[in-house]
Amino acid sequence: PAVEFGLEAPFSVEYHDSVGSTNDRARELAGEGATDEVVLADEQTGGRGRLEREWTAPPGGVWLSVVTRPDIAPAQAPLYTLAISVATARAAREAGVDARIKWPNDVVVPVGDDGDYRKLSGILTEMEGETDRVEWVIVGPGINANIDADTLPESATSIREEAGDVDRRRFVQRLLESFDDHRNDLEGVVPAWRELALTLGQRVRVDRPGGEIVGEAVDVTESGALVIETEDGRETVSAGDCEHLRPV
Ligand code: BTN
Repeated sequence: PAVEFGLEAPFSVEYHDSVGSTNDRARELAGEGATDEVVLADEQTGGRGRLEREWTAPPGGVWLSVVTRPDIAPAQAPLYTLAISVATARAAREAGVDARIKWPNDVVVPVGDDGDYRKLSGILTEMEGETDRVEWVIVGPGINANIDADTLPESATSIREEAGDVDRRRFVQRLLESFDDHRNDLEGVVPAWRELALTLGQRVRVDRPGGEIVGEAVDVTESGALVIETEDGRETVSAGDCEHLRPV
């Protein structure tokens, strides 16, 4: 059963000890007209990742989804993903973790100096709406918080592993306050994102439906797409088209 989380945040929070997927529950709420509501769970039994992947979400994590009804065009929705990734990275940094952002939206911890990393958080954004205006946007970050890293996939890490356990109530509060600041200042999102970016300056390979691109990641556009300097000139990749990005 869901209970109120009682947070002093600009969102009301519905808390579950266990739920299938917070994004699925958030979609139900969005369908009922909810706005500025958060679904938070200690554990998910059917967590979903990007591109139909499964997402491991054992007890001790921060699994949440935020339902919003912003007055924006669908093309601007990626800025919401960047905003929640900035908010997540900042909250993790306050918890003592050297969190950085791997474009478009993974919060990672660098390992060594050659661009390697372990994943701390991923974000699943979903939206519905017309071509000119969105009806709702759900941003769903999952953060490996108070979890033993050896119960997670090999390429993942946790706040426990990096810096010791975090007060999850405080963590969620800081994350939501920061997300609220950024969604009210969408122009400031990309500059804030750049400061935390691990990807910029890296030589990367991006897999996308139109084929792979290899080159140096040099910038992010106003709408959050990645600009890559290739041998044949500049190419831009939108977050939705990115199947995989890795440093090469
Ligand atoms: C990814 O990196 O592929 C995205 C992972 C997103 C996981 C979070 S956990 C909270 C929310 N509910 C879900 O079912 N998925 C997202």
